[in-house]
Formats: sequence, structure tokens, C-alpha cells
Amino acid sequence: MAGRIPRAFIDDLLDRVDIVEVIDARVPLKKKGKEYWACCPFHNEKTSSFSVSQNKQFYHCFGCQQHGNAISFLMDYDHMEFVEAIESLAAMLGLDIPYEKGQAPAPPNKGSDSLYTTLQQCTDYYLQQLEQNPAAIDYLKQRGIGSETARTFAIGYAPPGWNSLGGERKPLTEAGMLIEKDNGQSYDRFRHRLMFPIRDRRGRTIAFGGRVIDAGDNPKYLNSPESPVFHKGNEIYGLYELKKAVQKIDEIIITEGYMDVIALVQHGVKTAVATLGTAINNDQIEKLFRVCKTLIFCFDGDAAGKKAAWRSLEQCLVSLKQGRLARFLFLPEGHDPDTFIQQHGKQDFQTQIEKAATLTEFLFATLLSECNIKSLEGKSQFIDRLRPYFMQIPLQSLKDQILGEVERQLSTKLDNRLLKILGHEKPAVESYLRIPEQRWTPTRLAINLLLQKPSLADTTGTHHELAETRIPGVDLLLQLLDEIHEQPGISTQNLLDRFKGNEHEAHLYKLAATQPAIDDEESIDQMFADCLERLQKNYIEHRRELLIDKMQGGESLSETEKQELKQLFTNQ
Ligand code: UTP
Ligand code: MN
Repeated sequence: MAGRIPRAFIDDLLDRVDIVEVIDARVPLKKKGKEYWACCPFHNEKTSSFSVSQNKQFYHCFGCQQHGNAISFLMDYDHMEFVEAIESLAAMLGLDIPYEKGQAPAPPNKGSDSLYTTLQQCTDYYLQQLEQNPAAIDYLKQRGIGSETARTFAIGYAPPGWNSLGGERKPLTEAGMLIEKDNGQSYDRFRHRLMFPIRDRRGRTIAFGGRVIDAGDNPKYLNSPESPVFHKGNEIYGLYELKKAVQKIDEIIITEGYMDVIALVQHGVKTAVATLGTAINNDQIEKLFRVCKTLIFCFDGDAAGKKAAWRSLEQCLVSLKQGRLARFLFLPEGHDPDTFIQQHGKQDFQTQIEKAATLTEFLFATLLSECNIKSLEGKSQFIDRLRPYFMQIPLQSLKDQILGEVERQLSTKLDNRLLKILGHEKPAVESYLRIPEQRWTPTRLAINLLLQKPSLADTTGTHHELAETRIPGVDLLLQLLDEIHEQPGISTQNLLDRFKGNEHEAHLYKLAATQPAIDDEESIDQMFADCLERLQKNYIEHRRELLIDKMQGGESLSETEKQELKQLFTNQ
């Protein structure tokens, strides 16, 4: 039996492994200077601030501060356990792990090995019991499950006795196979049930689901309790079997029940999985999205199905990164995937899948059914309801698509106020920057506005730091601000006068002569603030690049600079 992994071996492993190779295989890295860089896989970002050092064999993200070595990377990125990560690295290097025998204080997995063995013995036992029990075999037949499918899922049978399971009591109890009574005696948890082993990513049985065979017995399904090797919220039924059966997985169909997965596979739809009687959580969704980019959530068409689907949508949003798709299939009322495919066959099921709603469609259908958007109140209610979901989406293109849909559905142009409510305020400048023949930039626009209304400067600081960005025209903007600060209340003509003979004179006049960009007071203020905000963003971007370039060039940052970099990332 495997035991503890010696510390010396782990040290040796870390010396031999190349973290760049480990990470690059999962997150493509680019070399710049001495280090390797990528967009951080642990938070959402557009500029690469995730660095991997080959010399020091560690990674560090300047954005989210996540850091560690090859082992922790596998644990965080591939959701492996400590021992699994070591085993995976050892396998990669072709090293055998010199497990220590005996009872040494073990790493996180203490005692798990005996649980795995015990659970495997139970699996084998139930398999063998199935062969000897005609009632159980009949039940499977009656549900349309062939022997090959039954074997794929290692379906077994727990006999009726209270003490059928043999073997050591302690691991059996710890694995949840026995229930302990107050008097210290114990009895079998699963009796006269069809047994579905739940397996982990490596195919080890970690728990069971057991279904009654006789109608009327209760509860219909009994599941193993949580144990050191089984955490319901982490596991996905059928994922191991799916990965084993399908080479190239295009989409995964997520159902609600064991029998749904099994029936779909029986009918040749091999990419089905299920949660274990609980609502799917984001960890599970992330796990599935790493296996393939399209997830199809499959539900009954009734109210309970809609509710469960909505919970899945909520769990999905933050995971919708580039290329990932989530769709929602509602089967005709009264059907689950099992009954549907039994009755209508694979072809019809596939047609259903093709018709599955996109996430946007489902989102809108649900919210629209809750708000009467014919009225103005209904429209704002709709925006309010949409807001918390919308804000979680990390992908800009999806957000834009949703905004487009909002405009279509509400027959409303999304103005700044509505975008603000959605937390997606597009600066008013945007619309001006888009007019090609006028060649507006935030700087030119700001200057134009200042010339229209010098008092705008009253609400801003000096912003001398912006000079460093060398954005064309910024120096002129700063001079204007200085002039106005020096003489508050100055009029436009006086202001222009100050620039007589100045190198910028011609340019300034030209801008002053340009048709007023806008003329209502409130919009002017807003737009001016937007322009400065954009310039400020450019500045932050500029400083970040500068400091990161400095590091990548091999220079070390001063304490102040480190502080600044941290600040720059928290202010984004
Ligand atoms: P369902 O009631 O939809 O069962 O529960 P099902 O999968 O269609 O099963 P059949 O077709 O009647 O055999 C869906 C899932 O909820 C959990 C199980 O994981 C089940 O697969 N469940 C259900 C329980 O844990 N306990 C129960 O009593 C019922
Ligand atoms: Mn069913």
C-alpha cells in the first residue's frame, strides 16, 4: 500500500522539473527579458502580468498576487490534490515515487489509500452480486440498459442483508459504506439497491449512488455521505467514463441524474455527465470548461427545471471566457433526458440539442417574462434585474452582444444613464471618437471643451503627471489647465490671448474654431470628465508598461516603484 512521499523526493522533484515547461503546456508563455509572461490564468486581464521565472522556478502575478511553484500551479490550475500534483510531475519526469511504508504522519491524504482500496472492493463485490440477482438484472433491462453500458459504469447491486459487506470496519465506516450505531455496532448503508459507483478523474471509486429497485421504497436514491475522498460539490458523475470513451470532446451535456447519463450513453450520446443531486457550482463548471468549450445544460421543461437552469446560468457567468459557450436545453414537460431518448431516440435528442437556447436567449427570455417592458417602469426594472448578471461577465464581446439585445428588446437606445446603471458606462467621448472625419481624440476633445467653458478646469487638478505619456496635444492641454488655474474665471478670449506667440497658437485657434462638440451644460461636464478619465487610464497603462518593461529588462524596482505597481493594478 502506498504511503507517505518523502520530503527529500519532493525537493528533488522540484529541482528537476522545469516550471516553464509545466505552465507553458497549459498557458502559452512568451519570453521577454529573463522571464516568461502570459495573461494570468487566475484572474481576468488584458495585459500580461503573470510572470514565470525559470531561474527561480516560480510564478507570480503582479495583478492578483497569485504565486507558487510547479506543484501549487497544478493544484490551482488543474485542481489536483497535493499528492496528485506530485504524481503527475513524477510521471512527466519518469520518476518512481519512493513511497514510505508505515504510519508516518502523512500529507493531506492521510489514510485515503485504504479508503480507495475499500471502495474498489465494494465496487467489485456489488458487480459480482448483480450477476447473481435476477431482480436487479431485470430492472436494468426494463430501464433499457444493456450489459455493455452497465459495465462501462460498473453498475452493481447491493444485496438486502444488513451485514453483507465484509472486510475491515474502520475504512468501510469512514468511506460511508457502513452506518455506526450508538452501541458501536454497524450495518450496511446500502441494501437491495442498484449501485452506481462515482469515480474520480483517475477512475477510482470514491462514493456510490444507490437506487431502489422496488417501486415505493424510499428514498429513491441514497448517496454516500461526504468522506475524506468524496466531496459532492467537487465531483461530476460520468466525467471519467466520458473522457475514457471520447477522444475529441466537442460538447458536454450536463444532466441532473445518474440514469440520464447512463441512458444517453446507452443510446450513443457519449458526452453526458450529471451533478450528484445538487445544483451545479462554479468549480464544477470550471472543471468542465477545461475539458471542452461548449457546455449544454439539460433540464426538464417544468418550473423546477427552469429554476435549476437559472441557478446554473448564475454559476456560469464568471466562467464565460473567450471561446466558451453555455447553452440551455429544455425538454418537453414531463421528460428527462432518459425518458426522452428512450421514447424518441438519438436523432430527436440531437435535434433538441441543436435547438438549445443560447445563454443570451435564456437570460432574456427569463428577465422579459418578469418585467413588462412596454412601460417605462418595466424597462428600468428590466435593466435593474439584468445588472447583477451582466456585471459578472468577463468577456467584452458577450457584453456587447447583450447590450445590443437590450436595445433591440427594449426598443431603446442605451444612453449614458442606462449604461451607468448597468455598470458599463461608455464614456460619452466614445461617440465622438468614432466620427472618422473629425479625428477627435480625448485630448483634442478636452481642449475644445475647455475653450468653450474654461471653468471646467475648476473641478480638476493640474495633472502634470500626464505629460509623461507624451500623448500628442497633452502638453497643450496641461498648459491650458495651468493658465486657467492661475486665473480662475478667465474668459475664452483672454485664455486664447495668453497663447499669442506660443508654439501651439495656430493649433489652439483651430480647435477653438471647430464647431462646439456639444452644447448642453451637463453633457459638457460629463464629457470633459470622461476625457480626463481616459487620459488617466492611458497614464496608468503607460506606467505599468514602463515598470514591467524595467523588470523584464532585468532591473529591479525600488520599493516605491513596487508600491506604485501594486497600486496601478488595484486601480484598474
Ligand atoms: P431524479 O428524481 O430526477 O431521478 O433525480 P432520475 O435521475 O430521473 O432517476 P430515475 O430515472 O427515477 O431512476 C435526479 C438526481 O437527484 C438525486 C440523484 O443524484 C438523481 O440522479 N436524487 C434524487 C437523490 O440524491 N435522492 C433522491 O431521492 C432523488
Ligand atoms: Mn429519470
